[in-house]
Amino acid sequence: MLKGKEIVLGVTGGIAAYKAVELLRLFTKAGANVHVVMTRSATEFVTPLTFQTLSMNPVSTKLFSLVSEREIGHISLADRADLVVIAPATANVIGKLAHGIADDLLTTTVMATKAPVLLAPAMNVNMYQNPLYRANEAALRRLGYLFADPVRGTLACGWEGEGKLQEPGIIFEEVLSALAPKDLAGESLLVTAGPTREELDPVRFISNHSSGKMGYAIARSARRRGAAVTLVTGPSSLEPPYGVDTVPVVSAAEMRQAVLERFPACSIIVKAAAVADYRPAVRAEEKMKKTGETLALSLEKTGDILAELGRLKGERLLVGFAAETENLLENARQKLEGKNLDLIVANDLSQEGAGFDVDTNRVTLLYRDGHAEEIPLMGKGELADRLLDRIVALRARV
Ligand code: CTP
Repeated sequence: MLKGKEIVLGVTGGIAAYKAVELLRLFTKAGANVHVVMTRSATEFVTPLTFQTLSMNPVSTKLFSLVSEREIGHISLADRADLVVIAPATANVIGKLAHGIADDLLTTTVMATKAPVLLAPAMNVNMYQNPLYRANEAALRRLGYLFADPVRGTLACGWEGEGKLQEPGIIFEEVLSALAPKDLAGESLLVTAGPTREELDPVRFISNHSSGKMGYAIARSARRRGAAVTLVTGPSSLEPPYGVDTVPVVSAAEMRQAVLERFPACSIIVKAAAVADYRPAVRAEEKMKKTGETLALSLEKTGDILAELGRLKGERLLVGFAAETENLLENARQKLEGKNLDLIVANDLSQEGAGFDVDTNRVTLLYRDGHAEEIPLMGKGELADRLLDRIVALRARV
């Protein structure tokens, strides 16, 4: 996700400095090259050696170092950074930046960089609410500095309240957003994901192997790219994506209702859910008892949500998925036309690494003009971005 990216991670002197270690791990795991810059007081909390070992780069602490000025001096760091993130950012460093003070390597690097700067404040609740701090934060926001807001909790100083460093996983998510193109800004995207469950009785249901991974990946990437995202999801063990309005549903009927309620406000709809086509004609009130050697279930059709949206779509862009085990392109094209879609993602479930409950997928995109585009095997996160690239291009045409 961050392959080829150069990140400067600034660490300032607060007890939350140890959490910057976890953030560094997330960056390096995602493929980024990270240069850690510590303020003098940060080194009182965590040693530079920890960051140096994990980043595999020298850690800079001094403004002027005769040995390394050429390679890691402030200008060189400022120039090479794709993004500067300061976590934790104390009231002191935020105050300095707001007033243009550059008296150490970190503040000098921030002053000299043209890269986006993300600040993750952490401080005592009274400091956080101090009008001086608030004015400094507001001034930086006006200048385009980004913030990963602190959360409420028990603070290291014993106080309860706002000022606790945001979770490293969420700071990481904000970094991905800061680096993503904002080509979906102004769009309102509705994504469906996961399976549905159709109950037979209080303990049994009919469902399928969908995990929700594809739809969740689309929702996550779309938010990073600036869209307002609603995710209507069937039962899934995945974490709701950060910053996405997640609406959990169980059955096809519930999914239909949730989608129809939200669809009028949306400009783009992506239906990645594996919706049940049939549900038990009757749901038994009590647990069904074992009787004869065989049991025949009577099923009735559920409503086809996508086909219904196809009739109502107007100017909206409608994207469907087709899960097939045979005649992939033929069947998918029929669904594209029959349901009045702009684009369909044809998923061949018989291919290795494709389809349900795996982290990868290999698909063919079919367009209205008859054009077909094969997308090779790749991670579902990367595929989500490819699909959104095509959606952006289609939206540009309307
Ligand atoms: N879909 C839907 N409502 C349903 C069934 C399917 O909205 N009741 C949507 C799915 O979310 C997907 C698309 O229709 O985007 C295609 O789903 P798929 O299961 O591949 O096809 P079906 O139309 O159900 O046809 P079949 O099961 O016969 O292949």
